[in-house]
Parts: sequence; structure tokens; C-alpha cells
Amino acid sequence: MTNTPASKTIRASRISIAQLMQPEHANNLGNVHGGWIMKLVDEAGALACMRHAQKRVVTVAVDSLVFREPIKIGDLIILNAEVTYAGRTSMESEVQVIAENPITGERTHTNTAYLVYVALDDAGRPSSVPELIIETDEEKARAEQAKKRQAYRISKK
Ligand SMILES: CC(C)(COP(=O)(O)OP(=O)(O)OC[C@H]1O[C@@H](n2cnc3c(N)ncnc32)[C@H](O)[C@@H]1OP(=O)(O)O)[C@@H](O)C(=O)NCCC(=O)NCCS
Repeated sequence: MTNTPASKTIRASRISIAQLMQPEHANNLGNVHGGWIMKLVDEAGALACMRHAQKRVVTVAVDSLVFREPIKIGDLIILNAEVTYAGRTSMESEVQVIAENPITGERTHTNTAYLVYVALDDAGRPSSVPELIIETDEEKARAEQAKKRQAYRISKK
């Protein structure tokens, strides 16, 4: 049984995953398939929320994903994720996607995505998550934006 605190910092949820893009990740144009990037975005977002909640989570909403630059086979894809909002059982993750050429070190920020997850108890029912501790002015501003995004999603349900 995990001992989950009542509140946790955003810092504690931060996670970074990196994966080399191989030929099996290609689309017909020879760049990385968008569906593959979406899978990694969902995994990174879920991991940040699992770290925060210390429970398993399911994806409940994904905001629009805009791919601004193609990612090439041979690039390293880096996904930085953190929790930006925690409700009673729901959480929002922000996921930044960066493509890095591992030879030149050139990095391109290809997109940022926002996803919502719900923590589940052992019976698969929504389960409460720790409050989010806001430590900096920047985090405060971003948390206010996240709260507005979540209110908008709920209004569209
Ligand atoms: C996630 C799920 C358990 C929530 O069930 P539910 O009956 O909507 O539960 P609730 O109404 O109690 O909502 C739970 C939380 O989700 C939030 N939520 C529900 N729908 C939402 C939406 N469209 N956008 C954002 N948040 C949403 C609610 O606001 C609530 O948040 P809060 O507890 O922080 O206030 C259910 O919708 C589900 O099982 N969905 C399928 C998940 C899935 O299979 N994902 C893909 C594979 S991982």
C-alpha cells in the first residue's frame, strides 16, 4: 500500500522520456508517423500523472495536437511532461515534444500537447489525487491557464 501525501509539487511529477526514431516508426513520406508521436505523448502525459497520483490512470481527454515540424527517422524524440492541474480525481499534463538530431545536437520544439487523465482505484472507479503545490509565479500563471482549459472541456461535455 503506497502512502500518498495530500499535496505534491509540480516538480515531483516531471518526467522526460527519449526514444530514437527508427525505420519502423516511419510514414509513407519517410518521416515519423504522427500516430507514433501521439502514442509517446500519451505515455509521457500518463507517467507524469501516475507520478503525481501514485495510482494508475486513464486518458479521458486530449486537446488538439498540431504538428509544426516533421520529425525525421534518426532523430531522438524527447518528451517532457508535468502535471499542470489537479482536480478531485482528474489531472492535466502538459507534454512538450522536442526532436533532436543526435549528431549535430540541433533541437526543434515540434509541439506542446495537453491531456487529461483520471486516477482509478483498484475497482476501476475514479479516485482522489493529491492537491498540486504551486511554488513559483510562472507555475501559478500556468496553473490558472490549466484551470481555464479544464473548465472549457467540462463546459463542452
Ligand atoms: C475516465 C472515466 C473513468 C471517468 O468516468 P466518469 O463517469 O466521467 O467520472 P466522473 O464524472 O466522476 O469524472 C471523473 C473526473 O474526470 C473529469 N472528466 C470527465 N470527463 C472529462 C472530459 N471530457 N474532459 C476533462 N475532464 C473530464 C471530471 O471532471 C472529473 O474530474 P474531477 O474528479 O477532478 O472533478 C470514464 O470516462 C472512462 O472510463 N473513460 C474511458 C477511459 C479510457 O478508456 N481511456 C483510453 C484508454 S487509457
